[in-house]
Order: sequence, then structure tokens, then C-alpha cells
Amino acid sequence: MKPDDKKIWEKLTDSNDRWRKKKKGKEDYQTINAVIDANTTKILSNLQSKGIIDSITGTIASGKESGVFLATLGPKGKLICEDLSIESPIVIKVFRTSTLNFRSIEKYISGDIRFKKYSKKTRNVIKLWVEKEYRNLSRSTLAGVNVPKPILVKNNVLLMELIGTNGIPSPLLRITPDEATEIMMITILDQIRRLYQKADLIHADLSPYNIVVKESIPFLIDMSQSVISSHPRAEEFLERDLNNILFYFSKRGVDTPETEIIFENIVNNSPDSVKEIIL
Ligand SMILES: Nc1ncnc2c1ncn2[C@@H]1O[C@H](COP(=O)(O)OP(=O)(O)OP(=O)(O)O)[C@@H](O)[C@H]1O
Ligand SMILES: [Mg+2]
Repeated sequence: MKPDDKKIWEKLTDSNDRWRKKKKGKEDYQTINAVIDANTTKILSNLQSKGIIDSITGTIASGKESGVFLATLGPKGKLICEDLSIESPIVIKVFRTSTLNFRSIEKYISGDIRFKKYSKKTRNVIKLWVEKEYRNLSRSTLAGVNVPKPILVKNNVLLMELIGTNGIPSPLLRITPDEATEIMMITILDQIRRLYQKADLIHADLSPYNIVVKESIPFLIDMSQSVISSHPRAEEFLERDLNNILFYFSKRGVDTPETEIIFENIVNNSPDSVKEIIL
């Protein structure tokens, strides 16, 4: 991180107390540096000067391909979010432009008719990938699927609702063993069904690592790879999602139905709910 960027970062994290003190050391700047490049710093700083965000107050996750941060809303952000019934703080997901694996994302973009013609230039593909998550979250929200509501997207930066309580992010299904119940499995399968039938989408990377549980309600997150049902590999992705979920619950002692039965129910738009065919 260059000295100038460091200053911008200090401003971006200014009104925060604990995180700023914690993140001040050299090592912490290196962590930030790994996710946030100069262009991203500019975008975030812009969002701050426009009054959309107030400051970045913490890190939720820092993975290979993205960094996920908590941020408080500025005056303009508050107005935008009031309309969407979203409270402060919110989540900022920053996609790491240097590590995005083009070969792996290609298969989710090509074949999706929404992105029929696109330029394969690196910067464009990243933009498209982030926009795809924004659009998938919007479609899902409109269809009544439990996902974080998206707020806005700018290049490699996506702002969305925090799934959490009192500003604290809710945990992943993977780390809440008490939530591995039959009713949780049924609710997740119903969400997959709603996603397919009402939003015409398949998550395509669904696992207990991409489900956040808030007050025993599952929320599907991480949707940049999600595809619409006319994608040539849609059925393969849907089957994989179902297998991941059913395998997880069966390992934890829940009586699980055959993948095919649920698959047929979802794809054929059967009038019976998942609950009706399981119980
Ligand atoms: N809207 C949200 N509300 C609460 N927590 C979130 C939200 N979005 C992301 N997270 C947290 O941040 C982590 C990473 O987010 P996400 O899965 O979208 O990114 P990713 O790049 O796919 O990371 P990974 O490779 O670790 O899956 C999630 O596992 C979750 O704990
Ligand atoms: Mg994820």
C-alpha cells in the first residue's frame, strides 16, 4: 500500500475505534493490501465522499478471491437503504482482481443468455462477474428467496445487506451444528425450489459454506456463479447443489430423501412442496 493510499485508508476507517486500532499495524496493512488495490481504494473513497458509506468498521472474511467488510452508512446511503429496508451496518464485498480465476468463471458466464455478448478483456470480465452477483441477488430478493438484499455495485465492489443481528454477522451453517435439523434441511430445499421456480436461477455453488443462519433462518449467499435455468449445465449444477446439501444433513443423522426425487419436484414445478414429499 502506497503512503497516499494509506492516508485514504485511515480516513475510510476513521470514525472507527477498535478495528482501526487493531488494523493499524504493519501486518494489518499487508492484509488490507492483499485485497484492496489502488483502484479499489479509490472506489471506496468515492463512496465515502458521496455519503454512501461512512466508514469501514471491520473485516468479516478475507478469502482467496474476495474480502468481505462491515461498513456504516453515510447520509445518502441511509436514504437509499431506508427504501430497501436495510439497516446500517452493511456488507462490502471486494472482489480481488488479481486472483479471480478466469477459466473457472468462464463456464458460468458463457451459456447464460443474459451475458450473450461480452468482451473477454480482464477488467470487463471482473465487472461482469460482480454485476452478475448483484443481478442474481436482485432476482432472488424479488422472488422472495432469503438472500442479502443488494444495494449497489461499482466495478469490483458490491454493497449488500448484512445478514446479522445488532451489527454482528450471523454464522455459516457449517459452523452451527445445532442447526443441522430436518426442518433446516427442508427450509433450504424449499429455498432452492423457490430460487429455481420464481427466480429461474440455480445457485451453482451451494454448500454449508454459502449459507448463513440468522435466528434459525437460512440465507443463501455468494451468488456470482449462479446461472439461469437455460444454461447448458444448469441441471448438472442443480444436482450438485442438492447433493451437497443432502450429503451434509445425512452425515449429521438427518433422514434425507433421494436427490432425484427432490430434483424432479423442483424441475417439474410439482405442486407438492418439498415438505409434503418428505414428511
Ligand atoms: N451479506 C452477508 N452477511 C453476513 N455475512 C456475509 C455476507 N456476505 C458474506 N458474508 C461472510 O463472508 C464470507 C465470504 O463471503 P462469500 O462466500 O460471498 O465470498 P467468497 O469469495 O465466496 O469467499 P469464500 O471463497 O470463502 O466462499 C462468508 O462465508 C460469510 O461468512
Ligand atoms: Mg463463499
